[in-house]
Amino acid sequence: MGGKDLKFNTKTIHGGQIPEKAYGAVMPPIYQTSTYAQSTPGGHKGYEYSRSANPTRTALENSLASIEKGSYGLAFGSGLAAIDAVIKLLEPGDEVISTHDLYGGTYRIFKKIFEKYGIVFHFVGMMGTEAIESKVNDNTKLIWVETPTNPMMGIIDIKTVAGLVKGKNILLAVDNTFATPYLQLPLDLGADIVMHSATKYLGGHSDTVVGALVVKDKVLADKLFFIQNASGAVCGPMDSFLVLRGIKTLHVRMQRHCENGKAVARFLKNNPKVEKVYWPGFEDHPNHTVAKEQMKDFGGMLSFVPKGGSYEDAIRIVEKLQVFTLAESLGGVESLAGHPASMTHASIPKEEREKSGVVDALIRLSVGIEDSEDLIADLEQALR
Ligand SMILES: Cc1ncc(COP(=O)(O)O)c(C=O)c1O
Repeated sequence: MGGKDLKFNTKTIHGGQIPEKAYGAVMPPIYQTSTYAQSTPGGHKGYEYSRSANPTRTALENSLASIEKGSYGLAFGSGLAAIDAVIKLLEPGDEVISTHDLYGGTYRIFKKIFEKYGIVFHFVGMMGTEAIESKVNDNTKLIWVETPTNPMMGIIDIKTVAGLVKGKNILLAVDNTFATPYLQLPLDLGADIVMHSATKYLGGHSDTVVGALVVKDKVLADKLFFIQNASGAVCGPMDSFLVLRGIKTLHVRMQRHCENGKAVARFLKNNPKVEKVYWPGFEDHPNHTVAKEQMKDFGGMLSFVPKGGSYEDAIRIVEKLQVFTLAESLGGVESLAGHPASMTHASIPKEEREKSGVVDALIRLSVGIEDSEDLIADLEQALR
């Protein structure tokens, strides 16, 4: 189904999908094959070799393009592989402006892999536009936005940033992992590239590692398809299938993630043992108005600092949790707790991470879709 006119919930299930030709299977088959028979050299049915393309991956890529309101979707072996492909669009000497509050692995690939190839990265606060404007110059080729940011739940105004770079030959990429297209559509807001760790909400069940890019422009898509094939960091058919299946329930899961996120955020805010809660749904969040405008709801991610908290206090709390599992990652049906300073953001130097608020006592929660009463009771006992 082409799906341009379908509404979001229908697109998660049918967007970009075609009926299976052989037996009418309702779900796309897992084409577990590396190669395809040819009748004569070049005589094939559209598929030659599964690094270049695989029908199950195509089904996922079409679904991704549909739900993000793009024209082309590309699936990769991980979110970082998708980021790697975007940076490979650049040349030595090109400059990237990125938010300073972002996933530690993104920071790591920028600094530890690509900096040595002559690409220059600037990490700035993006809650306002002044810091971005101050870094833009003739070498600037890419703005990297993550919103909501991981783990501080900062909100970056995508439309305003897009306005800033319009007509300047600068690409705007948005990591939409936390929000998902259920909450926010970066391409509609003026971004050129949407990126996902599909490992998270798109897959939704913590059972696979996949990355994604979606774009509208054909020239840009062709460059990325070239890199996808030439660098080869693709996902396999089984992983493609799992994300495709996950996407079919994205809207119902996200609705519950948002409801539970709100309940947990409010509970923590009113708990005397909690110093600070970071969640864009609070009216006193510095960019609450932007969040309200560019997002449909506020999502299931939040972070908090226990009162008078130290590294040890945070560790004690996450160890006591029973319904929340202490684990890396986020976006699955089950609630997870993480300690960014020692886990997801350990690859960012302490001084750098503290600049954006990632203090030793910060705890990040990925609020799942269990009963919110159980989640709250669990936090209550862990904070006691
Ligand atoms: C916001 C964000 N972007 C990118 C990534 C990287 O994705 P992956 O782990 O699938 O490589 C993550 C992983 O945690 C993430 O949280």
